[in-house]
Amino acid sequence: MHKAFKEILFSEEEIQLKVEEMAKKISNDYRNCKEPIVMIGVLKGCLPFFSDLVKKIDIDIRIDYIEASSWNGGLESSGNVKVTKEINTNLEGKNIIIVEDIIDSGITLEKILDFIRDQNPNSMSIATLLDKPSGRDKSIDIKVDYSGFIVPDAFLIGYGLDYKEIYRNVPYVGIIKPEYI
Ligand code: IMP
Ligand code: MG
Repeated sequence: MHKAFKEILFSEEEIQLKVEEMAKKISNDYRNCKEPIVMIGVLKGCLPFFSDLVKKIDIDIRIDYIEASSWNGGLESSGNVKVTKEINTNLEGKNIIIVEDIIDSGITLEKILDFIRDQNPNSMSIATLLDKPSGRDKSIDIKVDYSGFIVPDAFLIGYGLDYKEIYRNVPYVGIIKPEYI
């Protein structure tokens, strides 16, 4: 185990099984769509999850990315969300799946949903590897369509999740040791 981890919550194997299960569900739900769906990854945290997920989807899809950050690399969302990389695909009339690493307060995702809604897609759904419902802001009411694991109220790292931009490459998810914060 990496020395910054206090505990592993989800091993590489557990994550891969969950990703496979989610990819199957998504493929089946969208199999009869006339046009390829558009999967939009939320950078940078989505990267390992997004990459593993799309490889296991067996219907035609398009891929794009958005970057929106309400974090300044630390422990808490700043609440002030900026879209720092926009989407190049024409989303009008498309079926869209937004792919996140983790939903905590939900503030980042809500801003992204508003941004995409403005481009008149046919549908929008949300896929996240991790969901931390205890962190949800009272003002936010988001329906998560595809959720991997519900996680406790702790600061997590690994498999896309960072602390000050480090640990994204670790292939499992766990809790950071307090002395590394
Ligand atoms: P939200 O706006 O509070 O929902 O935050 C969403 C973003 O914050 C996610 O896409 C992550 O990048 C980051 N985040 C939330 N919780 C954690 C965590 O426990 N560890 C690392 N990053 C996190
Ligand atoms: Mg992030």
